[in-house]
Amino acid sequence: MLKSKDLLGIKELDGEEILYILDTAAGFKDVLMRDIKKVPTMRGRTVVNLFFEPSTRTRTSFELAAKRLSTDVINFSVPTSSVVKGESLIDTAQTVQALGADTMVVRHSSSGVLHLLAKHVRASVINAGDGINEHPTQALLDAFTMREKKGAFEGMEVAIVGDILHSRVAKSNVYCLKKLGAKVRLIGPPTLLPDCIRDLDVQVYHSMEEGLRGVDVVMMLRIQMERQGTGYFPSKDEYFRYWGLTAERLKLAKKDVIVMHPGPMNRGIEITSSIADGPHSVILEQVTNGLAVRMAIMYLLAGVRNENTH
Ligand code: CP
Repeated sequence: MLKSKDLLGIKELDGEEILYILDTAAGFKDVLMRDIKKVPTMRGRTVVNLFFEPSTRTRTSFELAAKRLSTDVINFSVPTSSVVKGESLIDTAQTVQALGADTMVVRHSSSGVLHLLAKHVRASVINAGDGINEHPTQALLDAFTMREKKGAFEGMEVAIVGDILHSRVAKSNVYCLKKLGAKVRLIGPPTLLPDCIRDLDVQVYHSMEEGLRGVDVVMMLRIQMERQGTGYFPSKDEYFRYWGLTAERLKLAKKDVIVMHPGPMNRGIEITSSIADGPHSVILEQVTNGLAVRMAIMYLLAGVRNENTH
């Protein structure tokens, strides 16, 4: 059983809750392998996707996951809504709730704003990415994929590479992997490694050649062009030269290493196409697993709301 009606971050979950989500997702993955991929589990419930930042994977994955659970789904279109007239996030969310929303999946550019929102609505709030803070469902689908490919987390060596400073994916993954007992290495230029993350019992490397040696998992991060100020790195070419994942560098990892990327990828900047599309890549499997993990999250949070209202 989860403790909260909301999923705001991995920080708020304990290891037992994370494993419970992964086990529940495994059940839903079995459902998704069947001819008929739909279950009536959440019939009569309403899920609203509120995305204030662009998304391909997360938004479509939540929409399809909600449909697979037989809910009614509304994709709130921010550019054609009253948000452009200045309506606040909380007023928008309360309006959507008044129309009957049970679950709100929200992506927003302000770090931490969803913690405030969750206090103002009875609906379950799911964080689909808030600024540079957290992206919990991405970390959960990443953990699901790692467990499926590698088994136990205990002793697993995971290297997270690149723009850690701006990456909510990296932060959620560090919290998640540490709670599950994996060893985490962070690799990147000093300018893109935030000080706060060094306190989390991780190993920090400023060289790909040193950091990739003997790892089980390499997780590449997207360089977040839209969040870069000036001076974090000199040029895209230079970034690729020092921090790009090439076949030569991947040879330093374990023979059966898996390569992950949350997407969208900057091919030729953080990762070469030969690796992204090669035999070690599980990037598209991450996307597939996201569906099962998001079904599990919506289903489990609905259970918490049920308990709280009875
Ligand atoms: N991984 C991820 O969050 O991708 P989108 O931005 O396409 O949702």
